[in-house]
Amino acid sequence: MKTILSGIQPSGKITLGNYLGAIKNFVEMQNNADEDTNIFIFIADLHAITVYQDPVELRKSIKSLAAIYLACGLDPNKSTIFIQSEVKEHAEIGYLLQTMTYVGELERMTQYKDKMQKQVQGVSSALLTYPVLMAGDILLYNSNYVPVGVDQKQHLELSRTLAERFNNRYSETFNVPEPIIQKVGAKIMSLQDPTSKMSKSDKLEKASIFLLDDEATIRKKIASAVTDSEAKVYFDQENKPGISNLLTILSCCTLKSIDELVEDCKDMNYGEFKKIVADALVEKLMPIQQRYNEILNSEELDLILTEGAKKASYFANKTITKMKRKMGIGRKQ
Ligand code: AMP
Ligand code: TRP
Repeated sequence: MKTILSGIQPSGKITLGNYLGAIKNFVEMQNNADEDTNIFIFIADLHAITVYQDPVELRKSIKSLAAIYLACGLDPNKSTIFIQSEVKEHAEIGYLLQTMTYVGELERMTQYKDKMQKQVQGVSSALLTYPVLMAGDILLYNSNYVPVGVDQKQHLELSRTLAERFNNRYSETFNVPEPIIQKVGAKIMSLQDPTSKMSKSDKLEKASIFLLDDEATIRKKIASAVTDSEAKVYFDQENKPGISNLLTILSCCTLKSIDELVEDCKDMNYGEFKKIVADALVEKLMPIQQRYNEILNSEELDLILTEGAKKASYFANKTITKMKRKMGIGRKQ
């Protein structure tokens, strides 16, 4: 039996980066998995509150992300889809693992250092311990594979360290989880600054394509994407980050290789090339949006989340009981 697990934070609007770097990969893994594979995909709301979230907005984003998962092709008959905070063992394992994580290991995390600098008010202690909660998510289901974008690689490293540390300190318990990072699409860049990651929290609206942007907005954002002055379409991450990012997006949407696309587009000017990219995006995203609108307020969505939490809790509870027994806390069960 193999287990695949991943999650996304419902903090703000889901971007094209989230889709191409993560969700699309979840769906492909789900569709290629055999009968013997358990798949858990969740909405990481406990992670979202490591920085303050407006409660009304957060509730909406949680439901919206669940509908996005389904609209993108996650199938509740094949994947267990649930909300992290509805399985209380996530918080519990987070604490148990904190007892064996060193402060130094957390202070060196790049995402912590970045987010800490952006915090205007106090930095919550949960922002520091965030990667431990994430390791807990992964170990709770004894996961083997974790599909993520490249920015999560360092956090995955800590999950591996903690799995091994627990196994060595107590006895063999956890698989050592492996990150699954795609070759193309693992890091979609900002449309306005193609040397930095496309991010939910970017203050510039036009830096990111959101999965639920309407057609006109998508076309406008692609048309105003920052490129270079050479006016020749080819892939060179270093010297042509803008064009290379658009080629990556096009490749993910059309399933054609970058080489093939460069051949197709080499005689185009940037205006023509951008139109091809926008067309491909519109073709990819419009059907997803249509399904999203059908699912968002359906009763079915609630039922799927309730069932998902129930199924996840069953596995989570077994792991927590085993950990407590091995760690010697509580009474023997
Ligand atoms: P987050 O938005 O931090 O909750 O990320 C959710 C998932 O999307 C993680 O697997 C990230 O690695 C992935 N992701 C976020 N932004 C990007 C991006 N710009 N390109 C590729 N993957 C991304
Ligand atoms: N930290 C991840 C992110 O920001 C989201 C996440 C939380 C996650 N728990 C996880 C991803 C467990 C994979 C596995 O993108």
